[in-house]
Amino acid sequence: MDLGLEGRRAIVTGGSKGLGAAIAAELVAEGARVAICSRHREELEETAGELRQAGGWVLAEAADVTDPAQVERFVAGSAQAMGGLDILVNNAGRAHPGSFADLSDQDFQADLEVKLFSQIRCSRAAIGHLRRSGGGAIININAVYGRQPDPAFFATTVNRAACFAFSKALAMELAPDRILVNSVNIGYVRTPQWERIHARRAPQLSFEDFLSQASREEVPLGRFGEPAEVSGLVAFLASPRASYITGASIDVAGGMGRYV
Ligand SMILES: NC(=O)c1ccc[n+]([C@@H]2O[C@H](COP(=O)([O-])OP(=O)(O)OC[C@H]3O[C@@H](n4cnc5c(N)ncnc54)[C@H](OP(=O)(O)O)[C@@H]3O)[C@@H](O)[C@H]2O)c1
Repeated sequence: MDLGLEGRRAIVTGGSKGLGAAIAAELVAEGARVAICSRHREELEETAGELRQAGGWVLAEAADVTDPAQVERFVAGSAQAMGGLDILVNNAGRAHPGSFADLSDQDFQADLEVKLFSQIRCSRAAIGHLRRSGGGAIININAVYGRQPDPAFFATTVNRAACFAFSKALAMELAPDRILVNSVNIGYVRTPQWERIHARRAPQLSFEDFLSQASREEVPLGRFGEPAEVSGLVAFLASPRASYITGASIDVAGGMGRYV
């Protein structure tokens, strides 16, 4: 299926590794121009280099999505360099595991900054550019735990619920501008963030044993997902083939999510 993404202009936050890098690679493979950001320049440049080697047009800028001035600069600079903007993928984020007893107000606030306010700020910075393109797509990468509360991921549970409300309300507000806003909700997908969770939670197990144990307990399909199993859906939602889908919330989670 030709997604019709040739020449489209996309921003992927947190594009240096994990899901963001896979999404950027998928969009590049479909012929889109892509701008990626993260905080660590070296890692970002390495990923951008790999994408360019694959024939892609890629801009890489160090930017922290919790800093309003850096977000503004990155989005404006990317739109200028690409000659406009059609797609924003709000992917940057991180896990902040812990129960209510483990988390201070500062922990909750820091997590809100990374998860909710990054989506708010990047969207605000992008909307004018998307309008000038005659419409576009915003895809927010969220988590199943925002709908299925898990006290072991307390901050994610609370803050991703706010991200779902943000996606839905924004989809309604921007529909007249033909800007589509959708949420892609992750369960357990193998990315570098799980290496950090493994090191903290169960360093006595091998990484593979840790993932197997977690997926046996939580995932009906019985395994972790791979980033490439997420990026195809994001590319589809970013494409004209998804032109009647907005305000949707789609799980990519191997059956996780005990709700209907
Ligand atoms: N993998 C999963 O199972 C899973 C489950 C639920 C939700 N998610 C969500 O999916 C998204 C991607 O996760 P991932 O698993 O791919 O994580 P990852 O492997 O840790 O990659 C996260 C990316 O975001 C960037 N990033 C983090 N904080 C940032 C900041 N303040 N400003 C700019 N960039 C920042 C990281 O680069 P730097 O650190 O260099 O900035 C990196 O590029 C996140 O929003 C995460 O919460 C993932």
